[in-house]
Amino acid sequence: MDKKKRAFITGITGQDGSYLADFLLDKGYEVHGLVRRSSTLNRERLEHLTQTDGENPRQGIILHYGDLTDASMLGRLIEKINPHEVYNLGAQSHVGISFEMPVYTTEVVAMGTLKLLEAIRSTGIPTRFYQASSSEMFGNAPAPQSEETPFDPASPYGVAKVAAYNFTKNYREGHGMFAVNGILFNHESPRRGENFVTRKITLSIAQILAGKKQKIVLGNLDACRDWGYAPEYVEAMWRMMQQDQPDDYVIATGETHSVREFLENAFHMAGISDWQQFLEIDSRYHRPREVHLLVGDAAKAKKELRWEPKVKFQELIHIMLSSDCTREGISLPLHSQNLSVAATGGEKINQ
Ligand SMILES: NC(=O)c1ccc[n+]([C@@H]2O[C@H](COP(=O)([O-])OP(=O)(O)OC[C@H]3O[C@@H](n4cnc5c(N)ncnc54)[C@H](OP(=O)(O)O)[C@@H]3O)[C@@H](O)[C@H]2O)c1
Repeated sequence: MDKKKRAFITGITGQDGSYLADFLLDKGYEVHGLVRRSSTLNRERLEHLTQTDGENPRQGIILHYGDLTDASMLGRLIEKINPHEVYNLGAQSHVGISFEMPVYTTEVVAMGTLKLLEAIRSTGIPTRFYQASSSEMFGNAPAPQSEETPFDPASPYGVAKVAAYNFTKNYREGHGMFAVNGILFNHESPRRGENFVTRKITLSIAQILAGKKQKIVLGNLDACRDWGYAPEYVEAMWRMMQQDQPDDYVIATGETHSVREFLENAFHMAGISDWQQFLEIDSRYHRPREVHLLVGDAAKAKKELRWEPKVKFQELIHIMLSSDCTREGISLPLHSQNLSVAATGGEKINQ
């Protein structure tokens, strides 16, 4: 009998979905993913897994067309795949865009989660369920934010994620499902979407160095976020799913830095000191409501999941900037290779 565990990932084409697929394949899982039909293929982050020519022996992702808004398809897929673990990472995940598309964001994030939970319940398959909850659910609640901090979402995305969080908790408590919420603070990587602020900065700097771009256009530089490294965060998701009892966990670094600090450090690593000349502030990027300070207290994850982040702020910037420079066909100045750039006031909050 095949003892391989089967995982089903929604959002497999996204940053986290692709890292999670890598991680689970390494663990020996059979990995299934939900993909949306589009007129152009959108599989860049999975390319290394679907190549079959020689070097990469890790094959085994099986992709299924579907959509989180399509309940009947979700039911059919759950029945067909019969997964041991379901990771619900699919979302309209951009906070700024959620102000422009609140209804669609809620359809996918909140109702999509409910449809998936219902699909699992109605098939009766005893699968474990992971919900990609978010620090944006805290909004402007006092920092540091932990599992005990009351939510105060400040965007349609945050509101929809709170609903999905509560649906997940409700299916756990009401239907006895093994359903967990990973409350993840921001996590970034070279696979981060190009319209998220961190990636926008590193990619723009690489393009400035390559002579292809003159300006970075940004909004609020004062927002402070707790930024971790995505590959480490997907391991935390898996660890939650291996616990004896389902529960909710904050995953964070416990450090917070402003967008301005990210920008300064990235320019410094690129060897550019007069960086202000490359910056343009555009009020179109300001949000109707801002979240000012997010910093997570991941003490529970450290204790119960034995999970701790290793990559911190400086190293994260370096990883992303190096990758974008390589992509643009240039290399970073030598002085940045040892990560000796001084931190510019990052605040460490007790955990
Ligand atoms: N990254 C973070 O800092 C962070 C922090 C906390 C929580 N989260 C949450 O964690 C999850 C993964 O984040 P991420 O950074 O990997 O996001 P991402 O890169 O934006 O990926 C989102 C994924 O969701 C898919 N998707 C969007 N709408 C869908 C729909 N209607 N039906 C099915 N799939 C749909 C996308 O498919 P396409 O490729 O077709 O667009 C993509 O695969 C998201 O739920 C996000 O909200 C992220």
